[in-house]
Amino acid sequence: MEPGIENYKLNKDLFGDDFVWGISTAAPQIEGSCDSDGRGKSVWDVFTEIKGKVLNGDKPTTTCDFYNRYRDDITLVKQLNIPNFRFSIAWPRIMPSGTGNVNQAGIDYYNQIINYCLELGIEPWVTIYHWDLPYALEQKGGWTNREIVNWFGNYVRVCADNFGDRVKHWMVMNEPAVFTGAGYFLGIHAPGRTGIKNFLPAIHHSVLCMAAGGKILRERLPDAEIGTTFSCSYIEPYSEKDKDVAAAKRADAMINRLFIEAVSGMGYPDDVSVFKEIENYMLPGDEKLMAFDFDFIGIQNYTREIVKSAFWVPYIGAKLVKAEDRNVPITSMKWEVHAPAIYHAIKQFNAYPQVKKIIITENGAAFPDVVINEVVNDTERLTYLQDHLSQVLRAKNEGCKVAGYFVWTLTDNFEWAEGYHPRFGLIYIDFSTQQRIIKASGHWYGDFLK
Ligand code: NOJ
Repeated sequence: MEPGIENYKLNKDLFGDDFVWGISTAAPQIEGSCDSDGRGKSVWDVFTEIKGKVLNGDKPTTTCDFYNRYRDDITLVKQLNIPNFRFSIAWPRIMPSGTGNVNQAGIDYYNQIINYCLELGIEPWVTIYHWDLPYALEQKGGWTNREIVNWFGNYVRVCADNFGDRVKHWMVMNEPAVFTGAGYFLGIHAPGRTGIKNFLPAIHHSVLCMAAGGKILRERLPDAEIGTTFSCSYIEPYSEKDKDVAAAKRADAMINRLFIEAVSGMGYPDDVSVFKEIENYMLPGDEKLMAFDFDFIGIQNYTREIVKSAFWVPYIGAKLVKAEDRNVPITSMKWEVHAPAIYHAIKQFNAYPQVKKIIITENGAAFPDVVINEVVNDTERLTYLQDHLSQVLRAKNEGCKVAGYFVWTLTDNFEWAEGYHPRFGLIYIDFSTQQRIIKASGHWYGDFLK
């Protein structure tokens, strides 16, 4: 047993007065109203129409109807004493074909959200890109087309110019490793492309966009705090054998190091030999264009992975040993519940001198909640959050520059290829009636933050 859990009596004051507390959401997972008020189609609208791509054929057309119910839901954020609200700006809502025309109704919508947050004394934290690429751009090659650097730059400019007078905290991009890996290599997320010839240019162009986006924000909003967010899973080898240790190192390069190192000016890690081929998509001067000194790095951790050598797996020669086969506690996503993972993830990112500040921009868990007499007693989620917070505190007390924590997520919502089955919310949603019930974990977070 690693230290931390039993060593701390959890109390908000232990994290210090300036520690940032929040809750995270993303437009495509909560808004619905995909065709309303001039919104264009996103890659997810199209992908979810294809049979077999999303569990149970679930679609994001309504989700939790945040588009119409945002005032009620932000009021719930207030009721839970959560001072910071993270949400994303749907690219196809503000620029229906991705570039060129700006949809004023979309801009008005996000202005209402921002203004309502501020009216309630809640600080808005904006993610610019959370995976909903306009479908019109995907038809031109999407993330594989280098033109995206210009398209993305315009989108960032529209966000900065319309919302930057009130939004002080920005995240340029959400989890590039996931949308490029799942969407352009494995084909299990939108737009469903596969293979190395899609994956490698998507990686490089998303790095260029992240850095370009950071620069545009800083130029236009010199006082804003600018970050970007990365997925990370603490990786451990299956055994001490050299081949498993080496496989774990390659998996770590792909899962955790690829994007933070590229954007920190360190280039692409050479532990995975296929990454050398990214050079085929680089132009002279790109090394400089890839880097940006973000004010903070958002890290999003849910679990750890155990990695084993597997010579037959192309490019990486490694495989993840499923948590289900390891006799460990798991969530509805079949991810292992292992709180020290977040401590190790913080330590790993903290070791980069380029990382100035770390904010946990997502952490949370899906469990099969049940409603009994209008009450959801989700003790597993509550324990998960407390245990993970203890580990965040352990890292902070050891001097790591971790300065904030956002729970994923406010309400149950559309979990991508998994549809509505995994429930991550602090607030339960009955998707047939849109009734909201604050779960025990939500009440706990509210009391903790009081
Ligand atoms: C990371 C993603 O940013 C978010 O969209 C997703 O729902 C959660 N992790 C849980 O899988």
